Amino acid sequence: MTSGKASAPAKIILFGEHFVVYGNPAILASINRRITVAAHTIKDNKIVIESDIGAAGEYSNSGFNPIKGGKDAREILDPLYSAIRQILAARNQKIGIKIDVVSKVPHGLGLGSSAASCVAMAAAVDSLFDRPDRQKVCEWAIESERMIHNNSSGADCYVSTFGGLIHYSKSKGFKKMKSKSPLSMVIASTGVRHSTGDLVASVKKFKDKNEILFSDLAKQASDICTQAMAAISSGNKEKMGKLLSENQALLRQIGVSHEKADDLIDICNGAGALGAKITGAGGGGAVIALAASKQDSKKIAAKIKARGYDSFEVEIDQAGLIV
Ligand code: PMV
Repeated sequence: MTSGKASAPAKIILFGEHFVVYGNPAILASINRRITVAAHTIKDNKIVIESDIGAAGEYSNSGFNPIKGGKDAREILDPLYSAIRQILAARNQKIGIKIDVVSKVPHGLGLGSSAASCVAMAAAVDSLFDRPDRQKVCEWAIESERMIHNNSSGADCYVSTFGGLIHYSKSKGFKKMKSKSPLSMVIASTGVRHSTGDLVASVKKFKDKNEILFSDLAKQASDICTQAMAAISSGNKEKMGKLLSENQALLRQIGVSHEKADDLIDICNGAGALGAKITGAGGGGAVIALAASKQDSKKIAAKIKARGYDSFEVEIDQAGLIV
C-alpha cells in the first residue's frame, strides 16, 4: 500500500488518577473526540510529519529539521517519530513516509492527545504493510508514550486502542467494563496546560512528606473505585456523580486541583451536574462533569461557556482504534 489512515480517540480518567501510580485502581473511558493520522510513502528517504497541533518537522540522515513550532516541535514530534521507527524496524523496511496529523483533541489538558496520536500513528504506518494488530499497535504506542512520561501506566494507550470503559490496576491489568446506561458528560477546559511529569513528581513529594495521610487517602480512592464499578454497571448515575465529587475532594488534598478547576467544578455543580472533578494530572487541565441527561449536559456546557471557559459535550466512544 502507498497510503494508510487510522484514527484513535481521546480519553478521560473518571476515577483514580495519581493514586494509580502507586498500585491503586483507576477507571478510564475513551471519548468521541479523535486524532486522525494519514501516512503516505514518498520517494525521498525521510520522515516528514505535518500536524495541526502546532508542530511539523522532517527527520532524515542529517537529523531533525523543524518546519513549524520551532524548538518545541521536537518534543511533540519525537514520540510520534519513535512509533514510526519501531514499525519500520519490526517490518524490516527503509522507506520515506509523509504523515499528516489532524486533531480534534485539545493538547496538554490531560485528555490523552499524545496517546491517541501515538496509537493512530502506529496503526496508520503499520497499515502501509499489513492489517494492523490492535495489541501490537497498543504496545508500540505505549513504548512511544514512555518518551513523554516514563512512569506511564499505559492505560491511556490501552483505552484509546480498545475503546469503551476500562478498569485498570498495575496488578490486575486492564479489564473492559460496561455501563448500563449511556453517560452524558461535559468537559471544561481551564485553559491551563499541565505537565503530567511535574504533577506526578509533586504528588510523590506530598506522599513522602505525609506517608500516613497519603495511604489513608489512597485507601479512600480505592474504595471510591470499587463503589464506582458497581454504580457504573448498575447505571446508578446519582451515585456515580457523588463518587466523582468525593474523588475530587481527595485530589484537592494531594494538591493537584487548581483555582480555575475549582471554579469550573462549582459552575458545573451549580448548573445541575451530578458531580464533577478534574480528569488526569490536574494542575489546570480539564474538568469532567456527569449530567443526568443529554439535555442537562447541553445546559451545563452552555453555562460554562457563558462564564468564559471552553467546554464541549462528550459521550463514551466504543470503537477505539479505527483503521
Ligand atoms: O496525562 P494525564 O493528565 O492524563 O494524567 C495521567 C494520569 C496520572 O495518574 C496522573 C499519571 C499516570 O501515569 O497514571
